[in-house]
Amino acid sequence: MPDPMSRKRHMNKVLDRWENEGGKSAPQTSPSTSISSDHKPQTTHHMKIVPHKRELTNANTLHHTQNDLAAQTRTSMIPILNARLADTIDLLHQAKQAHWNVKGRNFIALHKLFDEIAEAADEHMDLIAERAVQLGGIAEGTIQLSARRSELEPYPLDISDEQDHVAAMSAALAAYGKRVRQAIDQSDDLADKDTADMFTEISRAADKHLWFVESHLDRESHPARRRKAN
Ligand SMILES: [Fe+2]
Repeated sequence: MPDPMSRKRHMNKVLDRWENEGGKSAPQTSPSTSISSDHKPQTTHHMKIVPHKRELTNANTLHHTQNDLAAQTRTSMIPILNARLADTIDLLHQAKQAHWNVKGRNFIALHKLFDEIAEAADEHMDLIAERAVQLGGIAEGTIQLSARRSELEPYPLDISDEQDHVAAMSAALAAYGKRVRQAIDQSDDLADKDTADMFTEISRAADKHLWFVESHLDRESHPARRRKAN
């Protein structure tokens, strides 16, 4: 019986291989199946795989649709959509965290701006989830799964000052925008122009909100300003 660490290492290798192949077919594993070191699957009811951030999607669950996009394209797009769905759900709640807790001279402006970001994330969450289902997939958008899968840094819980929230929210928006932009390229490469267009719309909104938030950065504490001063 392999030790739990070697099983985990093997699972990570399987996931890496699968991701490097673009998630073209689901890896031959499931939560109820373990793989021994000699690669022979062993059924066990004891094994519990708890992947971090790279949880398997229902990539091989493709519902019938008359949508004329190739099944291979749709199968590959669904995990990408679900990955960005997790980020979007995380961003939504990060913006709410900032909306509720921000304090400072610009309270009202930032309180409203952070709520606007949460509302946009709410709309984008719906767009992304429904696109996954339109392609024949399953939208995987529970809070518990999103918390495990999100690629955003955790939002700090011990800040109140508006400049700290401005810095934290702009970092979250920048990281989010970067991943959405990667998803545009991935959709393009897979010849799914509609999803590429949807992600383009979302990244444009993220960039706009990043601009709005960064405009509140205290000029004296702005990193570029500090660099100049040194
Ligand atoms: Fe509110």
